[in-house]
Amino acid sequence: MLLQSAVGALSLGLFLATVVLHVSSVYVSNLTPICMRCLCHAASSCNLTLGCVDGYCGPFQLSRGYWRDAGLHVLPDDNPSRDGAFLDCAQDYSCAQRIVEEYIIRFGSDCNGDSVSDCDDFAMLHFNLKDDCTASLDGTNFGRRYSTCRPTSDPPDSDDGPPRRING
Ligand SMILES: *[C@@H]1O[C@H](CO)[C@@H](O)[C@H](O)[C@H]1NC(C)=O
Repeated sequence: MLLQSAVGALSLGLFLATVVLHVSSVYVSNLTPICMRCLCHAASSCNLTLGCVDGYCGPFQLSRGYWRDAGLHVLPDDNPSRDGAFLDCAQDYSCAQRIVEEYIIRFGSDCNGDSVSDCDDFAMLHFNLKDDCTASLDGTNFGRRYSTCRPTSDPPDSDDGPPRRING
């Protein structure tokens, strides 16, 4: 009896510890929908009908290797070993977004060394990939497009409409 509750408490504790550890080890706090949209814009002007260019597919321009490294995410009820599973996910905005999220969760780091993990780092990771994400995006088309939609560090306003003033 006592042993059972001890084991129960221990596994609950382990479970909670795992949840906390998982959440705190993930660099996604600044991975907002606005950041995602900007990565998409940087990759392809977020062109949903672009298809594959030199092995980079869909609006986020994902390679098969990127997809594999991110954990082979596929559309609901699809199977990663099906021919076309990668392509169909990569060409679907929300499915492709999940691939990018997974990639960033796994490999996110402070690419530019400024001690914060934010969209700038995710953009560098997305473009430079996991082995070394530290190269500057300056002078690349990806970087040029990214700079036009790059989220600022200001606290986010409500999504739509102009910023509101509190006093008139
Ligand atoms: C998206 O890419 C396709 C294929 O290259 C092209 O035909 C189309 O014009 C592009 N769409 C936009 C909005 O740029």
